[in-house]
Amino acid sequence: MSRKKVGVLISGRGSNMSALIEATKAPDYPAEIVGVLSNRAAAPGLLTARENGIATASLAQSKFPSREMFEDTMTQILESWEVDYVCLAGFMRILGEDFVLRWQGRMVNIHPSLLPLYKGLDTHARVLAAGDAEHGCTVHFVTPGLDEGPAILQARVPVLPGDTPETLTARVLVEEHKIYPQALAMLARGEVSL
Ligand code: GRF
Repeated sequence: MSRKKVGVLISGRGSNMSALIEATKAPDYPAEIVGVLSNRAAAPGLLTARENGIATASLAQSKFPSREMFEDTMTQILESWEVDYVCLAGFMRILGEDFVLRWQGRMVNIHPSLLPLYKGLDTHARVLAAGDAEHGCTVHFVTPGLDEGPAILQARVPVLPGDTPETLTARVLVEEHKIYPQALAMLARGEVSL
């Protein structure tokens, strides 16, 4: 079996990246993580990636004259790793249209809400403020509109009495770590397309 090559973009702790790395350790998993790129050199996820023998790169957007040049450099790095797919995993930068269109159909993101509900940041606090009975997460294709691309998989969790943003975040994160590897496997097997 030839595995599809995947690059992961992170900004921080990288727990979703870790879940993807763990999934790829199964011999029949259809993809491998060939590189992890961070826009923050201090992202703890970079260390985890290196410990797993995965190539890493970090690029600060502030060091580039323009967002386009920053993103072109990301594309060059991803191309040097010969990636088939790109997974955004807590990558905290809004991506420009050129970059998104360059990878469209081959780039996915995990978002902590039941999209199309709660695009953007602070989803857990917003769900609590709204008094919703359920919450969840979505793996979706990345298209130019923020958090607007079609969903591949979703998971739901109940909102429980006494929940805080922290307890709800933790409950959703458990599900993120399940559906992201499942969605990437579906993509790599050609079972879903944009
Ligand atoms: C996750 O909640 C993910 O849904 C969101 O950013 C967070 C990243 O966490 N896009 P981690 O770095 O994967 O632990």
